[in-house]
Amino acid sequence: MPLVPMRVLLDHAAEHGYGVGAFNVNNMEQIQAIMMAAAETDSPVIVQASRGAREYSNDAYLRHLMLAAVELNPRIPIAMHQDHGNSPATCLSAIAQGFTSVMMDGSLQEDGKTPASYEYNVRVTRKVVEAAHAKGVTVEAELGCLGGIEDGHGAGLSGDEALAHLTDPAQAEQFVAETGCDALAVAIGTSHGAYKFKKKPTGDVLKMEVIEEIHRRLPDCHMVMHGSSSVPRELVEIINHYGGDIKETYGVPVEEIQRGIQHGVRKINVDTDNRLAITGAIRKVFSEQPAAFDPRKYLTPAREAMAEVVKARMIAFGQAGWADKIPRVGLEDLARRYRAS
Ligand code: G3H
Ligand code: 13P
Ligand code: ZN
Repeated sequence: MPLVPMRVLLDHAAEHGYGVGAFNVNNMEQIQAIMMAAAETDSPVIVQASRGAREYSNDAYLRHLMLAAVELNPRIPIAMHQDHGNSPATCLSAIAQGFTSVMMDGSLQEDGKTPASYEYNVRVTRKVVEAAHAKGVTVEAELGCLGGIEDGHGAGLSGDEALAHLTDPAQAEQFVAETGCDALAVAIGTSHGAYKFKKKPTGDVLKMEVIEEIHRRLPDCHMVMHGSSSVPRELVEIINHYGGDIKETYGVPVEEIQRGIQHGVRKINVDTDNRLAITGAIRKVFSEQPAAFDPRKYLTPAREAMAEVVKARMIAFGQAGWADKIPRVGLEDLARRYRAS
């Protein structure tokens, strides 16, 4: 089965009430870790690459690594997604490189930092939807800006400014109708990276009710939770035990993500937890075996540590066990479907 459009996975997840983790990759070992976890749990897969990842690894390497994943795992449907496209040009170049899904993040201007106007967001998102749907490619959009309510990340927002940029459910209704996007990333108080919350988050900083209200208004909308790493204490402790310096921090509890899944969240973005797992495993080898210098000595445990995290998330999000039950729908089928609608 070739790479599949992400929409097929999200529709199936909605029909059966589960969520699908979207894991970021930059290299071969991360792709292998995801596929190891998917093969073990029989899970459909969303692999995503940021602009930075595409620059780091080069599109040609990424594409061929993804095709290898498809070739080696014929029973597992895999979608390849552009994470946080900053412009229509970025999304179109991803489509040209074989990505089957793109995120047009028009919540920010092209610099990826400055909050954009609603009109700008609608304009660029519509443009990408038109081009992508003609090819059967899925489009994720974002309304509202990420950024912790406690601490500023992403757009550099914090406190009241971040609160003002949470997704407005009434505007979400209008935005989805105006853009025709397939999935909507929502801002509910999470931020990217390890430093999301200063204590276990409660409703004052993690606004799950925004998700519930959007789901009430738009029951068919596939929502996406960004910044969804849980920052497990045990992974931080491994890093710090072996000479690292990660300060006390809290992520998004898996139970809160599960609550989101009950209210329309279908895609959950996780990158930081895998970075933590990889770093801890490598630090351990460097510390315990200072004479080791064969990269396989530390990349093998690093890959295994990431696979463990991905496996745990696949089980917790409910995607485990569904891989071979996803309808075989390809890009051309979806392009036809979009044309007819
Ligand atoms: O969007 C955030 C992801 O964790 C990707 O991060 O831009 O450093 O590759 P990156
Ligand atoms: P984390 O930094 O919480 O893993 O979020 C990743 C993400 O949202 C990628 O788009
Ligand atoms: Zn994100």
